Amino acid sequence: MQGGAAHIIDADRVGSVKQQVSELFKVSLGTVVPDQSDIEPLIAMCNNAKFGDYQCNNAMNLWSMIKGKSTQFKNPRSIGEAIAGNLPPSEMIESSGVAGAGFVNIFLSKDWIAKSIQKMLLNGIGVWAPILPVKRAVVDFSSPNIAKEMHVGHLRSTIIGDTLSRMLEFSKVEVLRRNHVGDWGTQFGMLIEYLFKEFPDWEDVGDQAIGDLQEFYRAAKRKFDEDPSFKERAQQAVVRLQGGEAQYRSAWTKICDISRKEFDQVYQRLGVHLEEKGESFYNPYIPRVLEELNNKGLIVESEGARVIFIEGQPIPFIVVKSDGGFNYASTDLSALWFRLNEEKADWIIYVTDVGQSQHFQMLFSAAKRAGWLPPNGKIGEWTDEELEKTAEAVGYGAVKYADLKNNRLTNYTFSFDQMLNDKGNTAVYLLYAHARICSIIRKSGKDIEQLKQTGTIVLGHADEQVLGLHLIRFAEIVEEACTNLNPNILCEYLYNLSEIYTRFYTNCQVVGSPEEPSRLLLCEATATVMRKCFHLLGIVPVYKI
Ligand code: ARG
Repeated sequence: MQGGAAHIIDADRVGSVKQQVSELFKVSLGTVVPDQSDIEPLIAMCNNAKFGDYQCNNAMNLWSMIKGKSTQFKNPRSIGEAIAGNLPPSEMIESSGVAGAGFVNIFLSKDWIAKSIQKMLLNGIGVWAPILPVKRAVVDFSSPNIAKEMHVGHLRSTIIGDTLSRMLEFSKVEVLRRNHVGDWGTQFGMLIEYLFKEFPDWEDVGDQAIGDLQEFYRAAKRKFDEDPSFKERAQQAVVRLQGGEAQYRSAWTKICDISRKEFDQVYQRLGVHLEEKGESFYNPYIPRVLEELNNKGLIVESEGARVIFIEGQPIPFIVVKSDGGFNYASTDLSALWFRLNEEKADWIIYVTDVGQSQHFQMLFSAAKRAGWLPPNGKIGEWTDEELEKTAEAVGYGAVKYADLKNNRLTNYTFSFDQMLNDKGNTAVYLLYAHARICSIIRKSGKDIEQLKQTGTIVLGHADEQVLGLHLIRFAEIVEEACTNLNPNILCEYLYNLSEIYTRFYTNCQVVGSPEEPSRLLLCEATATVMRKCFHLLGIVPVYKI
């Protein structure tokens, strides 16, 4: 039965409006240029709402491909006209037209938009999940280092990684949320040795021996730098730990446990959940992964170390240090191998600070050379600035919200004017905007659940139409945010939704008007979409102001 239910849900998933429009144009293009069977429709929102809602931009490209070869078309515009003329009949489209050099503009049917919103209200926002070309994704995020402080870079990664995961999960992608904690570095030699030396009874006194882990780390580091014999023992301790000696292993476990408790507090506060698969997890895989790379002739000897040379990089990718030990690079190679071969991930997303970009460039180049990744596979990278902007946009919502909750919620005076001007305060602004909608619905005294069953949405007023169109774009926004790995797009959509709603509410009387049932449903749809945006951004909505 479960299978049946899942089937129904899947059949209900039609993809984003943009995808649906694209399907229609694909059919048309197949008729217009049958020999260009794999041509992808180029669909975009119209810049100017006067001309249409969506446009198809294939004509110019097609013209440059068939120019001189075709007698059928005399210019790009005639191709555009053929594309428009061959659109299959669909209740989605109200009208189409051709502009300039063959741009095909379409207006969506207001009725169809209204119905689609009603369907969403009845069946839940899940029907507006986009369909992504990916089944399973690994998201490697947060990933702090044991016994070291979780710094702002890790926090940023935690917030962005969580939002990316939520968006993918909403799109029915199976997401493996991976916390790639640094639990296997050489620092453990020094920590363990320090523990043994300073706290011979560490097994009995437990956590208290270590106390503040960061302080403990600093003290161990001081000793390491000052005392050559300690340093030597620390280095041996790493070898003994990695060799699996019981006492070292159990000291290591203890240290990791303390760190984990601290990290978990942060995750709990932010409402983020992750599965830890730290560096140590991949350690057993390293030898065979390196063997594979070695057999492929990628690994060479250089100054006592084993390295992979990468074209265009000034330094080689060191995979075995000169003392024979493995490192961050060999671990990441094995993790990548594991994610591709064992976890069979279609997408692997690393959310880390830009300081590591050289490491990752070398990692991915090595993987391409090994034939693990397609040679022209897409590898996106963000600048530090983009990261900053996104984390801020996404993160402060949650942080501010916490702040808001601790202060006196009721003392806030609500004013649409202030909200519209005060863009800096957006998370707060948005939370209130949502709560305001909820209160409008409440105060109407109508049973909204019943209205969903019996009411009909009619998009009569221009501001209703703008709101309707914006609402049904939700799926394509999530789709875009996922494919560009950029939650900012969702933030922007949410701000705009709030503004568009305000315009609607200012110009269209809701309660007490003849259109009240339809307009209340539009309010409810707006609140529903806003809530989903909050959820995807990791923000907890408020219902009352
Ligand atoms: N632990 C690393 C750091 O704090 C981040 C790990 C990122 N993920 C990875 N697979 N290398 O810098």
